[in-house]
Amino acid sequence: MYVAPRPFRANEATGRGASRCTPPVRPSRIRSAAPWGALLLLLSWNGAGRGGVDEGVASWPVASPGENELSDVARLGRLIFRDESLSASGQMSCQTCHVPEHAHAAPAADVVSAGGARLERRGLRNSPSIRYVHLTPAFHFEADGTPVGGFFRDGRAVSLADQARGPFLDANEMANPSVHSLVDKLKAASYVSEFKRLFGADVFDDPQRAFDSVAFALAQFEIEDETLHPFDSKYDAYLAGEATLTPQETRGLQLFTDPGKGNCAACHPSDRGADGSPPLFTDFTYDNLGVPRNADIPANADASFFDLGLCGPQRSDLPRGDTCGAFKVPSLRNVARTAPYFHNGRFQTLEEVVGFYVRRDTHPEEWYPSGPEGVRQFDDLPVAMHRNVNVGEVPYDREPGDRPALSAAEILDVVAFLKTLDDGYRP
Ligand code: HEC
Ligand code: HEC
Repeated sequence: MYVAPRPFRANEATGRGASRCTPPVRPSRIRSAAPWGALLLLLSWNGAGRGGVDEGVASWPVASPGENELSDVARLGRLIFRDESLSASGQMSCQTCHVPEHAHAAPAADVVSAGGARLERRGLRNSPSIRYVHLTPAFHFEADGTPVGGFFRDGRAVSLADQARGPFLDANEMANPSVHSLVDKLKAASYVSEFKRLFGADVFDDPQRAFDSVAFALAQFEIEDETLHPFDSKYDAYLAGEATLTPQETRGLQLFTDPGKGNCAACHPSDRGADGSPPLFTDFTYDNLGVPRNADIPANADASFFDLGLCGPQRSDLPRGDTCGAFKVPSLRNVARTAPYFHNGRFQTLEEVVGFYVRRDTHPEEWYPSGPEGVRQFDDLPVAMHRNVNVGEVPYDREPGDRPALSAAEILDVVAFLKTLDDGYRP
């Protein structure tokens, strides 16, 4: 878990032994007791798409309507989610990069998805799964200064609706040159009369209001559509006493939670919340794992370019310093279907990811390039920021030559456990 800025002292330059471990904090979420659709719509309905949903997130437990019981706004949101005509290329929708068959992430071949007016551009980051994303708390700092929550891998969007505005105008994605140009495309959409029925006959008089309504409908779709958060993995069935894990999956779960072995649950909690909520496998904090650089990302051709997560280049509102290089802890639900892994899509398999965790410091030569001065560890961070990498917490608390926290067989056990987190388990 990433812990907030602390003063840098010269004798900590290697960071060894400087543990950043703190007990996992379960983020507080905005609570609503009533059934979704109706309440959220009532609270937030002002035709401009701003209000309850825009400012906050929903919480567990709630009765969420099934596929066919979506509110009208959420149904409209689903049409918008799939509508390629709203992009400059005419070939890209939200669903292009968040594909239902890939747990709403991009296909594995897309390390970074192609976008832009002629699908000629590629951005900085791998497309994450957006399953369960509606349960993300808004970006905030805990009392001890720990940054938590927010949407995108750097938390820069304050709400789902705020996030949904981004891709339409992102030059590397749907690439509309302006809100006006998007709204012109919207006026020609097959569902335009429904859009006007729901958001007002005069909604196009103010393009920003029309744009906000699009974002609102998308957020409502992500909140209401159960296929985006079914909580029906084998592990959910196991927690409910309705399935048994195999011996290998059981060993994997133990290694995942054991604070002296994988210690994965320190950042990816696997227990139910105090309120009985199913685990989300993220505590929504940020951490710097020192993930190796990925040459497949075009921006990385410039050796002086670095994607530093919380401290930019995508966001610039936080002080530089300890935040540099930290990315949000992602949920691990459906992780077996969402390759490649990490913000830069550097690894293709879960075996590599778990291997990286436990062998990064004991066998750095397996992960980083070598130069005249030896292995260039943490090669995706400027040297001055190497001290931000988490080297104190298990499983990183080792030096070259030490025994890794997990053996090769134990790595496979953890991977077997991770595969129980796929949605759609049918005994
Ligand atoms: C070109 C591919 C692409 C398209 C098109 C796209 N996304 Fe994404 N999406 C991404 C990437 C990449 C990220 C992570 C970006 C980052 O962290 O800066 C992301 C992040 C997200 C997140 C935040 C996930 C989290 O964990 O915080 C949500 C929600 C989301 N997208 C929804 C949408 C919606 C809704 C649309 C359509 C309006 C859309 N996306 C269109 C690639 C895409
Ligand atoms: C100190 C916090 C921390 C611990 C401990 C931790 N993780 Fe992570 N994990 C993260 C962060 C942060 C990321 C995202 C990093 C990035 O994108 O650069 C991540 C990403 C991942 C991913 C990639 C998910 C994706 O969709 O790209 C997997 C898989 C994963 N962790 C599994 C594990 C396992 C297994 C363990 C235990 C061996 C573990 N993690 C321990 C913080 C942690």
